[in-house]
Amino acid sequence: ASTLAAAAQQSGRYFGTAVAAGRLGDSTYVNILNREFDMVTAENEMKMDATEPNQNQFSYGSGDRILNQARNQGKRVRGHALAWHAQQPGWMQRMEGSSLRQAMLNHVTQVATYYRGKIYAWDVVNEAFADGSSGARRDSNLQRSGNDWIEAAFRAARAADPGAKLCYNDYNTDDWTHAKTQGVYRMVQDFKSRGVPIDCVGLQSHFNSQSPVPSNYQTTLQNFANLGVDVQITELDIEGSGSAQADNFRRVTEACLAVARCTGITVWGIRDTDSWRAYGTPLLFDGSGNKKAAYNSTLNALNAA
Ligand code: G3I
Repeated sequence: ASTLAAAAQQSGRYFGTAVAAGRLGDSTYVNILNREFDMVTAENEMKMDATEPNQNQFSYGSGDRILNQARNQGKRVRGHALAWHAQQPGWMQRMEGSSLRQAMLNHVTQVATYYRGKIYAWDVVNEAFADGSSGARRDSNLQRSGNDWIEAAFRAARAADPGAKLCYNDYNTDDWTHAKTQGVYRMVQDFKSRGVPIDCVGLQSHFNSQSPVPSNYQTTLQNFANLGVDVQITELDIEGSGSAQADNFRRVTEACLAVARCTGITVWGIRDTDSWRAYGTPLLFDGSGNKKAAYNSTLNALNAA
């Protein structure tokens, strides 16, 4: 196959990208989007600050532009993200305790209900674990509202949109030996054992020289899958250039393909210049929209599956 999406479809997988609403008027961007990808994540437009700027006043304009553009092109959409310590609207940042809990659950319910039937998978909770060696939850206003806030969010999301897959999504959970990976693993194991509704784990997979693709990446994907959840690579970018970068994208792609329940890969932007880490040229297309070596190695890996 000659596009990322068509190549991924050969093994029943998807290949997605993050999309920014502000770039939908850029024809180079939209041409690549329409040609290469069959899954879309809103880069910022479905986050809490975007969708509920004032308490109980919901704003779906930018998220809808991305969702409608994708669906009109026959693409599916990953929802990102219902509950997160970051990118909270100001009013929520100032809340705590049971009123925060109620506001968070209301947000999850309202947004998931609004998009019911249109979202393939929701990142229900994003980045709730701490970095470093503790393996513990990250401190945040949501965490201080009670340790069960995550499962409460998942239950609310399931009730609002029973057809969406519900994911826990995080970064630095790629190396199987890291405490953070182990912490997330134990939470998912606990949720599965107690019947808390969770369907998937998203590994963001933002890689650079400080945080390279670990040699045990496939092991991590497989171990999560063995808990009875899908795994998805949700925000892939790898800083670098040339053959070294191409090799890293190939390795990540091959790791997903080797795990039956790794259902798809999403890159976190289209061209290097669209990236939150543009200085690191971490994506598959250069600033002019030309395919990079990393594009070719990714496509070849998908076609070899
Ligand atoms: O839209 C405003 C604009 O009006 C304003 O003039 C400008 C001035 O700073 O800011 C604009 O908002 C920025 C927004 O991106 C849209 O470009 C925010 O400042 C900026 O913080 C925001 O960054 C986003 C970041 O999440 C915020 O946490 C990145 O685009 C986005 O790629 C990044 O994505 C996250 C995932 O959601 C979760 N995982 C990590 C990943 C990378 O950080």
